[in-house]
Amino acid sequence: MIRRRMPAAQQLSHVYPLGSRVNDRGVLEVGGCDLVELAREFGTPCYVVAEDDVRRRARAFMEAFAARTDDFEVVFASKAFPCTAVYRLLWEEGIGCDVAGGGELAMALAAGVDPARIHLHGNAKSLGELRAARAAGVGDVIVDNLRDIELLEALVAQDGGPPQHVSLRVAPGISPETHPAISTGGPNTKFGFDLAHAPAGIERIQASGALELGALHLHIGSQILDLEPFRAALQALAALGADVPAYNLGGGLGVAYLEHDRPPTIEEYVAMKVDAVHDIIGPGKRVLDEPGRALVANAGVTLYEVQTIKRNVETYVAVDGGMSDNLRPMLYNARYEVDVASRPGGGTRCHVVGKHCESGDILVRDADLADPRPGDILVTPATGAYGHAMANTYNGALRPPVVFASGGDARLVVRRDTYEDLLARDV
Ligand SMILES: Cc1ncc(COP(=O)(O)O)c(C=O)c1O
Repeated sequence: MIRRRMPAAQQLSHVYPLGSRVNDRGVLEVGGCDLVELAREFGTPCYVVAEDDVRRRARAFMEAFAARTDDFEVVFASKAFPCTAVYRLLWEEGIGCDVAGGGELAMALAAGVDPARIHLHGNAKSLGELRAARAAGVGDVIVDNLRDIELLEALVAQDGGPPQHVSLRVAPGISPETHPAISTGGPNTKFGFDLAHAPAGIERIQASGALELGALHLHIGSQILDLEPFRAALQALAALGADVPAYNLGGGLGVAYLEHDRPPTIEEYVAMKVDAVHDIIGPGKRVLDEPGRALVANAGVTLYEVQTIKRNVETYVAVDGGMSDNLRPMLYNARYEVDVASRPGGGTRCHVVGKHCESGDILVRDADLADPRPGDILVTPATGAYGHAMANTYNGALRPPVVFASGGDARLVVRRDTYEDLLARDV
C-alpha cells in the first residue's frame, strides 16, 4: 500500500515537530535548521530534537492541569528519552521525572533534577538501587511488590532517617487497546500489586513506621488512543477503599506516528484524568501524571543517509542505521513516516531498511519516497520517544548523537559513540 503523496507545495504532516517546514531550497527544516545541513555537520544517523516543541508540550501539560486543579504534579517518564539535556529542559519547565532504575536516577541527578521530585519505579529493584535512591533523598519510591517494602524498611532502619515516602502501584486489571508488549495494567501482569493483593500491600505500608503511603499508582499502558479505560482503572482503585492523599495515574497518552493518526489532545487527556479523580475519588486529592512519549515523541526526528538501493522483487532503500537506533518497528511493528529531506513527497514505493544483519531490520515498510538515491538524507519523524532510549551497538553500531535545534541554531547534547567507546569496557 502506498501511504501518501505529498504535493509539491508541501503541507507537512502534523507528525513533524511543531514549527517544521520546507524551506526556500525545498529542504525540510526542524527547529529552524536545514536537515541536510545538520546531517552534514553532525553526521548520520542523528537524532534531532526540536527544543521548542518539547517546551510547548510541557507547558501544555502544566497549563491543562493548572486549569483544572491546584494540586498536581507532572512527572516526565524519563524512559522515553533518558538524556541529561532532556531531563534539564523539562526540569526548567517545572517537570520532575520518574526513573526506571539506578541508571536513570544517576542521569536525573546529574541533570540537576531536585531529588525530592524524582519518583523511583521498577518491578525488580535491587537493594543497590533502593539504597542509591534513599541516599539521594528521592521523594517517592513506587512500591511494586512486598520485597520493595522489606528492603526499604531495612534501609530506613539502617540510616535512621525519616520515613520513606512511597506510592503503591496497583495493576487494576484493565487492558487498554495497545500493543500487548506495552499493556501493563491487565489482570495478569508483572507490574505492581494485583487487585487481590493490593489491600495487604496497603495495610503493610500503613502499619510500617518506616514508610509513609502518599499515593496509589497505576499505569495501564502506553500509546493509548482511547481514554475511557483510565476511568475504569481508577474505579478499580477506588474500590480498594484506601484513604490516600494522592493518585498517580501513570502515563500512556498516545501520539501521532502517521499522518492520519488523531490521538487525543493533551488537554483532552488531562481533563479526562483530573475529572475522573474528582468524579470517582472525590475532591481534595493530588493528581500526578507520568507522560513520557507525549512530551518527546513528536519533537524528535532521525536522520539517515541512503547507502544503497536494491531493486529486488521489491525496492529496498538501505540506510546507515536501523534497529540499533530505532527498535520500535521490530519490537511492536511500529509504523513511521519517512521523507527524503531534500525532496519531501512520494513517487517510489520501497522499504526503508537498516544496515543490520537481520531481515527484520526494516525501519519503514511500504514507504513512499521521492526518487530516493544513494547519498540522500532520509528523515523519520516522531522518533523522539524510545529511540535514543533503546539505542544499542548491535553489529558494532555507533549510537547516534543527539542534537537540539531551536531558532535556527543547533547544539550537540550527546556525541556519537566512537570505536574507542566500543572497546572502553574491555578489561
Ligand atoms: C510506570 C510508567 N509510567 C509512565 C510511562 C510512560 O508511558 P508513555 O510514554 O506512554 O507516556 C511508562 C512507560 O512504560 C511506565 O512504565
